[in-house]
Amino acid sequence: MSPLRDLLTKQVSSAFATAGYDPALGEVVPSQRPDLGQFQCSGVLAAAKKHRRAPQAIADDVIARLKTSDVFGSVSFAAPGFINLTVTDEFLTSFVEQVGRDERLGCPLIPEPGTVVLDFGGPNIAKAMHVGHLRSSIIGDSLQRLFRFAGHKVLSDIHLGDWGTPMGMLIAELQHRRGITTLDDATAARAAAALSVHDLEEMYLAAATQTRASDESLREALQATVGLQQNQPGYRELWRQLVAVSVAALREDFDTLGVSFDLWLGESHFSDRIPGLVERLLAQGHAVMSEGAVVIPVAEPQDQQEMPPLILVKSDGGYTYATTDLAAVDERAGDLRADAILYVVDKRQGLHFTQVFRAARKTGLARNARLEHLAFGTMNGPDGKPFKTRAGGVMKLKDLIDMVTEAALQRMQDSDIATTFSETERRRLARQVGLAALKFGDLSNVRTSDYVFDLDRFLRFEGRTGPYLQYAAVRIKSIFRKAELSDDEVGGSLIAPQTAGERDLMLALASLGDAVRQAYERRAPNVLCDFAHTLAQLYSHFYHECHILSEGDPGRRASWLRLSQITLRQLGLLLGLLGIEVPDRM
Ligand code: ARG
Repeated sequence: MSPLRDLLTKQVSSAFATAGYDPALGEVVPSQRPDLGQFQCSGVLAAAKKHRRAPQAIADDVIARLKTSDVFGSVSFAAPGFINLTVTDEFLTSFVEQVGRDERLGCPLIPEPGTVVLDFGGPNIAKAMHVGHLRSSIIGDSLQRLFRFAGHKVLSDIHLGDWGTPMGMLIAELQHRRGITTLDDATAARAAAALSVHDLEEMYLAAATQTRASDESLREALQATVGLQQNQPGYRELWRQLVAVSVAALREDFDTLGVSFDLWLGESHFSDRIPGLVERLLAQGHAVMSEGAVVIPVAEPQDQQEMPPLILVKSDGGYTYATTDLAAVDERAGDLRADAILYVVDKRQGLHFTQVFRAARKTGLARNARLEHLAFGTMNGPDGKPFKTRAGGVMKLKDLIDMVTEAALQRMQDSDIATTFSETERRRLARQVGLAALKFGDLSNVRTSDYVFDLDRFLRFEGRTGPYLQYAAVRIKSIFRKAELSDDEVGGSLIAPQTAGERDLMLALASLGDAVRQAYERRAPNVLCDFAHTLAQLYSHFYHECHILSEGDPGRRASWLRLSQITLRQLGLLLGLLGIEVPDRM
């Protein structure tokens, strides 16, 4: 079904058209003055200019035609150029009926679905994750859910940092510690046996310090990197083992977070196609030699800031981060036939992606794929600097999840929630609540802005938080339990709203499709957060105004239960798109 705003816009546009005015000016949006009407059309001034008539005269013409529609109950002109619109209760009621019967609850599918690759710019092997990786997983997960729901085929790729010098450093360090002089597959397997992810992290930190302090160590690390990239005996095997250890731990962490990927590829995956790609780009004249390096110039005349060329091959023969990204575009747009490739990566990498996107377009590697950098800001600690764990160290996902779970447990205790639960159940709920706090705390911000990680605020059961929304959904479930109805037994038909609270709730339920579409178009999970929060608040008003369970009129009671059910389903859908679980009870 088409969203409410489309339907209203169609009505008003056709009124513009039959009155002889440009129908494009009939766009309807929610009112900025709800006291004057539920919706507004602001096209009157533009029409006055275009058709050289007074705004009042134009509005009169349009309003005269809208008076006969059975959608609008009141329509009025407000200077300088607004038409205020309110729909009839009958129309609203039947629209919400349709939403309730619609499997997608009033959310449209996009007209032309395609294949979308979502690059999560994932963590790096052996290096502890940082907050950027946390944000990219939370935001990326919500976007993959939203894109799938919109109708796309989505291929999400964790895109691990598993290639290049860091891996060489790790290999050299291990060789050192085990006294390995010549590496072959058998020694590699022995060296890597029984290594844990903690060993890797510890080794990486030691190696990083070593290579900074000594040229000899740096030389060894670079040598190991070359050994790996040139596929010398043992190197690939050792690398494979190290990656396996790290990936096993990451899989567990992402599982706990509730984030999954279709593809667990890393930067290494694209390395094989790099030499051929460089050759082709040189032969085609897209890449040129410059000071011993191979580069693709990407500057454009209208650039406001300096735009360095993309370096494809460094003068020492090595490839760069950008080379890998270009090779990845080639595979995704070429072999996977992606219609869009989206990168959920920190906004500070903006220049990098501008270079890569321009190079990918001008070389034709992008084919027809849209390339978008879905940038995000930093999650800061209370000191305004990128968030660190209490120990001051870099973050481990597992520790962070444990931390939010413990805090949720404490908060639940303070708020007398789940007091009758068994210990296991209470822990399970605490994890759901903690993750809801973490995810909503992140997703409710405008994607590109920085925000402060304030667990205390994120965990409140009242306010604009994940736990509040969970609580709102659980409360509706408990109404059904008290009414002794299972979800599919709540099937009553709606009657027209009698109170403002009912009407406002219905208007929100009718608008889900608009919100979800806007979130999709703007790649903005915060729009979903806002809508879910508004919906929960409106339901709460309605709930206090309309005493569902004690209502004596069976028709009304049934209608209110049905409104509750549609609200619950919409909340469930929204929380699902945010990657937040709805507990059964709390
Ligand atoms: N692994 C990189 C990092 O930790 C981010 C990769 C971003 N994605 C990409 N396709 N470049 O910074």
